[in-house]
Amino acid sequence: MKDTKRIHPAVVGRTVSIVGIGSYVPDRILTNADLEKMVDTTDEWITTRTGIKERHIAAPDQASSDLGAEAARRALADAGISPEDVDMIVLGTITPDMGFPNTACFVQAKIGARNAFCFDIEAACSGFLYALEIGRQFVSTGTMETVLVIAAEKITSILDWKDRNTCVLFGDAAGAVVLRARGAAHGVMSSVLGSDGTLAELLMLPGGGSRYPATEETVRQRLHYMKMAGREVFKHAVTNMSRAATDALRSSGLGTDDIRWIIPHQANLRIIEAIGERLGVGKDKVVVNLDRYGNSSAATIPLALDELYRQGKLQKHDKILMVAFGGGFTWGASVVEWDK
Ligand code: UT7
Repeated sequence: MKDTKRIHPAVVGRTVSIVGIGSYVPDRILTNADLEKMVDTTDEWITTRTGIKERHIAAPDQASSDLGAEAARRALADAGISPEDVDMIVLGTITPDMGFPNTACFVQAKIGARNAFCFDIEAACSGFLYALEIGRQFVSTGTMETVLVIAAEKITSILDWKDRNTCVLFGDAAGAVVLRARGAAHGVMSSVLGSDGTLAELLMLPGGGSRYPATEETVRQRLHYMKMAGREVFKHAVTNMSRAATDALRSSGLGTDDIRWIIPHQANLRIIEAIGERLGVGKDKVVVNLDRYGNSSAATIPLALDELYRQGKLQKHDKILMVAFGGGFTWGASVVEWDK
């Protein structure tokens, strides 16, 4: 098993808080019953094996930047911050609008954040936690004052609707947070990040990059769709997420009793339950919303965090443990003190 990097915010600069949050899901809902008409599957199989009942699907004219821009507008409105005050946009996605320019630049243009510099990071389903830590570093050092962290995925754009192993699992969504230094509170208390590139082939989108540029042959071979060895990914997800969560807790100096909410990446209810059991925490602390959204890759965690916030379930000083795992493999966990 690869090492996981520990980062101790407390010793490297200013404390950084989430001062605004927003999310967006497209209107159209695809239910398990709808999928029964598209591939050889059943509501019963999808529900018992994954916990998913329905997912949201972006419109044909919506790209990831459209989803991300809406989440970003809502996060900025929540923070009471003008787009022109944003210094930097970092956006996690595996479904960029195009090969280039980066999707963060498209979001910048849409929301009018003209003073920001913008880039994407690709860490698959761990993308939000990677982007959060990158943003935190810039604010912590005092290099930047206001950072917009976005995760935006039109994940259905890379699904093979003939592959029942993958197409039933995912949905489109975006989430965003605004980071600033506040001083008084703990903010982002700890982060751990890890990767294992030796297992890349278990979860990938092979076509369209420099390895297999788009040709008629790559299209014929369906290389432009996500490929996943689900059962293998499942095992690595449970192991690495449990370990990352434990490491992040240890780095923050907290125990599970101190944590109000655990927000795991929403890929499979059985993975989420296994992590809860390994950490020894009750189900009442573990956030689950994949029944309504499926797996939206990098967007699952900010979407779930925003939902908790909008439902009035977050109190100032609540400690939240977020943990993710995805293609690469990549994984990460962060402990955050809610500061709103
Ligand atoms: O977000 C990134 C990280 N991704 C994940 O964490 C996903 C991790 N993996 C999983 O969540 C699960 O492995 C899956 C939900 C993808 C699959 O569940 P599983 O219990 O591991 O099933 P399986 O792949 O072992 O397949 C069991 C059976 C197979 O049939 P046979 O070979 O036993 O006859 C599959 O062909 O289920 C079949 N199957 C389906 N049946 C009905 C696979 N997909 C479907 C389907 N409907 N949609």
